[in-house]
Amino acid sequence: CGIVGYLGKKQATTVLVDGLSKLEYRGYDSAGVAVITEDGSIDVTKCKGRLANLEGKLEVTPVHGNIGIGHTRWATHGEPSDVNSHPHSNANGTISVVHNGIIENYIQLREWLTEEGYSFKSETDTEVIPNLVDYYYNGDLVEAVMNAVKKLEGSYAIGVVCSNEPGKLVAVRKDSPLIVGLGDGEYFIASDIPAVLNYTRDIYLLEDKEFVVMDESGVTLLDLEGNKVEKEVYHVTWDADAAEKGGYEHFMAKEIHEQPKVIKDTMTSRIIKNEKIRLDDITITKEQIKNIDKIYIVACGTAYHAGLIGKNAIEKLARIPVEVEVASEFRYRDPIINEKTLMIVVSQSGETADTLAALREAKRQNARVIAVTNVVGSSISREADDVLYTWAGPEIAVASTKAYVTQLIAMYIIALFFAENKGTLSNEEIEAIKEEMLLLPEKAEKLLQNEEDIKAFAEENHMHKDMFFLGRGLDYAVAMEGSLKLKEISYIHSEAYAAGELKHGPIALIEDGTVVIALATQESLFEKMVSNIKEVKTRGANVLAFAMEGHTEIEKTVDTAKYIPRTIELLAPVLSVIPLQLLSYYTSIAKGCDVDKPRNLAKSVTVE
Ligand code: G6P
Repeated sequence: CGIVGYLGKKQATTVLVDGLSKLEYRGYDSAGVAVITEDGSIDVTKCKGRLANLEGKLEVTPVHGNIGIGHTRWATHGEPSDVNSHPHSNANGTISVVHNGIIENYIQLREWLTEEGYSFKSETDTEVIPNLVDYYYNGDLVEAVMNAVKKLEGSYAIGVVCSNEPGKLVAVRKDSPLIVGLGDGEYFIASDIPAVLNYTRDIYLLEDKEFVVMDESGVTLLDLEGNKVEKEVYHVTWDADAAEKGGYEHFMAKEIHEQPKVIKDTMTSRIIKNEKIRLDDITITKEQIKNIDKIYIVACGTAYHAGLIGKNAIEKLARIPVEVEVASEFRYRDPIINEKTLMIVVSQSGETADTLAALREAKRQNARVIAVTNVVGSSISREADDVLYTWAGPEIAVASTKAYVTQLIAMYIIALFFAENKGTLSNEEIEAIKEEMLLLPEKAEKLLQNEEDIKAFAEENHMHKDMFFLGRGLDYAVAMEGSLKLKEISYIHSEAYAAGELKHGPIALIEDGTVVIALATQESLFEKMVSNIKEVKTRGANVLAFAMEGHTEIEKTVDTAKYIPRTIELLAPVLSVIPLQLLSYYTSIAKGCDVDKPRNLAKSVTVE
């Protein structure tokens, strides 16, 4: 979910809706605003569905007032519906709240408040908050919010307004992101910076359990005991235009096409011919690297798939054992962690709650943590010991593309850096890999010039109900990413299998005409892969295969063959994923789906 808040001289609804439009990547199941109107009462407008529905409602019934809070929702507790939409209020509508996160003890709180005479309209966890604030309200909103928050377990970024104190907005965060925007006589809260960039570039980045109190005289920050907190103003230097579509029909298309550039940007100043890998931002020492006996790479979704490639690269080049795990599983299985463990967390947004929780668990047990993230100042970047930023620029489409390829580059850089420090590779070997890496941007560019073929294949095959992605070694990891992309945005059921494992069960699903996307870019596994492709061909599959240029013999086995520019096996994923991204993109368009905002998903998931 995303929250915003405004206090100033402008019409609050205009600023709130504009801010929410920049936060829709955090969810778009419903949207709502609560505004303190000229007569001092709170007016709540909210509805199910996209922000456009809320805008329509506000056009029909405008709300006037200069202070308000807003919310865009990704449903967790309670289906997407009008009544479950935020803001939520107490029974007599004097206190309204927007909330991002999950209140874990809401059932107990709800029962207790019910005994105290409170009633609830929605199925949400959030609704306990305005009622708790009401319970503690004794003429001082700040005090009431502080007392209410002490009862809450879980994660939250909250914005609160109260009609008894109509000139005030109170906010607080714990484990969910929240920033404050400082304008000229106007102030903002938001889950993320882009929501306020149209108005100000001066920001406070809040820490957990910090309270924001704003009124017309300005912004005060307080800690849990009510003491004033001093904080530096962070000045945003990046450009809001980077988050616009730039002539493409969809953000996803724009982001796919930015890949040659972002691959280059992520390598710039780090990979230089005949020089050591330059990671000036990383403080881990040679001794510490030598001491690592195990690495966990922990991430979610696409970032997890980048981690799978990272494992391969680190084990191969630096000879350190690596386990890759999805963050939501890692934390709850009592993993073996100690001071010799290194955790690498990979997260585009730097805010994914599961990944953040895994990071904290690792730190609690004295492991060192390196974060690979795309967002400067994100929670994950702030809590990790070291950060390696991917320079992908803002990624808006829910399905991740350019962030993924930059994560792969980051993985290779870390692997080379460790190899250098441990002496597991010769200088010549390292230089050879670097040289190939530096050629990747132009090879990616070349791939993007052959879109038409992939588009045609997508148009011919978009009506299928199932598709399979096969690969061996690194190709298997790329197959997983290709399969995720397809299901995310085209809703076609797809599965990725290790090609050699297929015969142990899943091959039962192959029948006449089943679409199989086979990756055969790994030279050393090429023959084995061709045998696996033959196994599905024999059962009637319609196979689209990707091999490295020069391997035209594959045409004898498959229905359609496509080629990726030659590179070393290890780096092939950076290239082979590109046609798979295009395949899912054009399939989604052929099916008439919402490419950038697929159903049920959100770009940044800040709940566990
Ligand atoms: C969400 C997004 C995915 C993303 C995952 C991890 O599920 O829809 O595209 O891969 O979160 O996000 P992160 O920001 O941690 O990389």
